[in-house]
Amino acid sequence: MGLGYSLIARPILALMDSEKAHSRALLGLRFVTFTFLGRMMLRVLYRPRKVETECLGMNFSNPLGLAAGMDKKAEAMRGWETLGFGFIEVGGITEHEQSGNPKPRMFRSSNHNALVNRMGFNNPGSEKMASHLAKSSKPNIPLFLNVGKSKITTLEDAHLDYATTVSRCEPYVDGFVINVSSPNTPNLRELQKDEDLARIIVEVQKYSGEKPVLIKIAPDLEDMQIRSIVDTARSLGCAGIIATNTTIERPDDSKTMDETGGLSGKPLSSRSTQVIRLIADHTDGDWPIIGVGGISSAEDAWEKIINGASLLQIYSAMVFQGASVIKKIVNGLDKKMKAQGFTSLEQAIGIARRG
Ligand SMILES: Cc1cc2nc3c(=O)[nH]c(=O)nc-3n(C[C@H](O)[C@H](O)[C@H](O)COP(=O)(O)O)c2cc1C
Repeated sequence: MGLGYSLIARPILALMDSEKAHSRALLGLRFVTFTFLGRMMLRVLYRPRKVETECLGMNFSNPLGLAAGMDKKAEAMRGWETLGFGFIEVGGITEHEQSGNPKPRMFRSSNHNALVNRMGFNNPGSEKMASHLAKSSKPNIPLFLNVGKSKITTLEDAHLDYATTVSRCEPYVDGFVINVSSPNTPNLRELQKDEDLARIIVEVQKYSGEKPVLIKIAPDLEDMQIRSIVDTARSLGCAGIIATNTTIERPDDSKTMDETGGLSGKPLSSRSTQVIRLIADHTDGDWPIIGVGGISSAEDAWEKIINGASLLQIYSAMVFQGASVIKKIVNGLDKKMKAQGFTSLEQAIGIARRG
């Protein structure tokens, strides 16, 4: 399987129960991509075919991105690009540095191919993140920053917290994701309410320049609430939406699933696709949707595309399958497109809606 596998895929797979293993995997990825030879080796092993697409005014070599939370501090950006992701979302970052919830706070259930986490936005804060990004070389693929709210900031002042992070990091990224959907910061999800959301969007837009601002929503909302969030975000000029974050629902009562926090992975897949479909129907397929939640195969990815997602992201599948899942999904999408006689991904987006 080679060095790439043992340094990257195996640590994530075998040891992911602990956060130490997660940092070790990131370190492994950074180490391997440090040299030209290492990068070449990873490319040979992992690089998928090109499935080019255009969205949010940007070009993507393929539609699959790294979801927020995997590389909170933007430590291995070159690594993700080398492994073949079409784009990267780093963060979540809050205005103030914070240590997050007490450990353990990340749990794995191999039976369900699912994770439960209650990290609570452990992150270096916007000031340190901005100075780190300033020193790092920017990857050659689109880079998004996931922005959250500091725990010490009140809901009334949330808009200022989000906006400070955006203003500090604006020169270094290609777009922003307003995360109002993490279940692990007390009351954060209340910010999905129209007036609160509007206040945040308007404040953030003062500092986001021409760069796209997207909203990331929870899967645990009523359909009506989702439509209302979409209307608010769209009317205020948000470029699109990420659906979805983790869920507080549980598939059954197994031990790991009982832990408090957000559930990701396989059990989230169908709800996330439902939310994508709901948004695509509501917007007539006219507003970019980044689909995330339980994608672990080309079939899952295709399902989200044909129901209306223009781009996709994964987190949990990297944990259970390692880096080779990127190639598996992207090459599989390419095959599905060709089997249907499509010459571009755009032709496949939302076809399930059209009958
Ligand atoms: C440990 C962990 C940390 C996460 N941190 C963030 C975060 O900081 N911001 C965010 O918007 N989503 C975060 N997420 C959610 C993911 O970006 C993604 O929406 C979710 O895991 C569903 O995708 P998946 O089923 O492919 O894992 C996190 C997920 C996990 C498992």
